[in-house]
Amino acid sequence: MAASTEREVLKSELRWTVVVAVVVFIIFAGILYAGLALHVNPPSNIEHADPKTLHLSGEFTETNLGAKVEATGVTIRIVAAQFAFVPDCVVAPAGERVTFRFASPDVIHGILVTGTNVNTMVVPGYVSQVHTVFTRTGDLLMPCHEFCGLGHSQMLARVQVVPREQFRPGPDGRMACARS
Ligand code: CUA
Repeated sequence: MAASTEREVLKSELRWTVVVAVVVFIIFAGILYAGLALHVNPPSNIEHADPKTLHLSGEFTETNLGAKVEATGVTIRIVAAQFAFVPDCVVAPAGERVTFRFASPDVIHGILVTGTNVNTMVVPGYVSQVHTVFTRTGDLLMPCHEFCGLGHSQMLARVQVVPREQFRPGPDGRMACARS
């Protein structure tokens, strides 16, 4: 009796081992398939940005951040770092195509602009790019929505959406928030 029970337990354990092995295999195959065949990768476009040299050279140096009129339209560059956005306020024209480009030098952050379709993760090592057209003017909040550390809840920026005619960039094509 005892011996047969032990055999049953053994058989049951073996059965579950096989079930778990199959499930793990299916999940692993799914991950490989999503990554290699479906190209499910970090959000938006796959563009690399070295987190170690982000502030030293290239696109995300401090002087190149914020809103700028470029050949492709208005581009807004923001660095998301523990625990602030640089800059913490950006200007955008309403009714025009705006491109956001985000990068992080430290951990994963998340960005959304309230009431709009702007919502992306910012993963260190990659540039996150989002296109949008703002349909209303006003100050929109842009909080970090991915827990990134103790200061996460303080990580907040603003997007000042102004009417198109009030979007007047300087001679260098850049425009910063009006500070009151
Ligand atoms: Cu950055 Cu939460």
